[in-house]
Amino acid sequence: MFDGISSWWVNVHGHAHPTVAAAIGAQAASLDQVILADFSHGPAEQLSDALAAILPGDLDHVFFSDDGSTAVEVALKMAWQAHQQRGDTGRTKLVAMDGGYHGDTLGGMRVGARGPFNDAFAGLLGDATFLPYGDAEAAEAFFAAHGHEVCLCIAEPLIQCAGGMRFTTPEYLSRLAAAVQGAGAFLVLDEVATGFGRTGTMWACQQAGVVPDLMCLSKGITGGALPLGVTACRPPIFNAFLGADKRTAFLHGHSYTGNPIACAAAIASLSVFRDEDTLSRVAEMSTQYAAAAPVLSAIRGVTDVRWMGGILALNLATDVGGYLDPIGRRVADAAFARGLYLRPLGDVVYLMPPYCSAGDDLAFALSALEGALREVVA
Ligand SMILES: Cc1ncc(COP(=O)(O)O)c(C=O)c1O
Repeated sequence: MFDGISSWWVNVHGHAHPTVAAAIGAQAASLDQVILADFSHGPAEQLSDALAAILPGDLDHVFFSDDGSTAVEVALKMAWQAHQQRGDTGRTKLVAMDGGYHGDTLGGMRVGARGPFNDAFAGLLGDATFLPYGDAEAAEAFFAAHGHEVCLCIAEPLIQCAGGMRFTTPEYLSRLAAAVQGAGAFLVLDEVATGFGRTGTMWACQQAGVVPDLMCLSKGITGGALPLGVTACRPPIFNAFLGADKRTAFLHGHSYTGNPIACAAAIASLSVFRDEDTLSRVAEMSTQYAAAAPVLSAIRGVTDVRWMGGILALNLATDVGGYLDPIGRRVADAAFARGLYLRPLGDVVYLMPPYCSAGDDLAFALSALEGALREVVA
């Protein structure tokens, strides 16, 4: 069975990579867990340094949590408290994107597009202002008028994944960043899905030359072996929390914060990126997607075939549309019968496989996808 979606986009090097597995075993045998308050430990410090070295610009401080949702919660809380402590108390608006998804915790849902993922919890969520994703002029107009009231703007850079693999451009991202940061609001980029090579570069925001104020990471960080979340921030935010008064500290903690085994897995995963030149495999995947696109596009009922880095996505023309459209499930079933595991987003079918599949394995996946599409939609 070929895992065509890297098990919810996490297993970037495939499953059970020996380097990552060995690091987990060795770490589990020496220090499995220690509270990351009052104590520190080697793997957390080494991973912090390794991330600071490769994150864009001066994103030099990292805060550990458990998954993508908590990485987002931390970013929202940090942005809010930093503004308050800098005396900028009028910045109360949260700005997010139409079609965005930032996790299933309350803060993540608050800045996520309203729809099937959070309808049941509408009464629990506070409000946010949603801007049209990809529309630079709308963002510029909004921030020119209201920027001084905005605490933060959160967006998924280049691709909204859970929202239906909606692509945008580096130009849009750089104009959005200029509008947000020019108004003194914090730009939060959620690279939980796009980070660790998914769009072809280590970070999607690199393609736009943008350095956000806060960046959220998870999913591929441990190579998919263990859960770990990271929120990175720039020095002005870090400095807003310095001082002896406990009330101005960032009082957010999780029991497993900075778990040594998860950190060891993440350090090992970064070494795989270096030693196996993993990003060149992602480029190879893009080339394969480009070659397959005309064949897929020619299937009747298939529209908008698109690809970026390690992602290929397409829409199915139906009368229903959206996340609740059952057609994707039928394609997934037909793919499963061919040995390919998919998990479509309603009428959007996509491949997001491990990078080690570049070459013959990806060719297999593309051919199984083509067969399934021909069977179900053609
Ligand atoms: C962009 C983005 N942010 C946050 C999350 C939430 O991550 P997790 O499921 O690890 O909580 C996801 C999950 O799909 C995501 O795609």
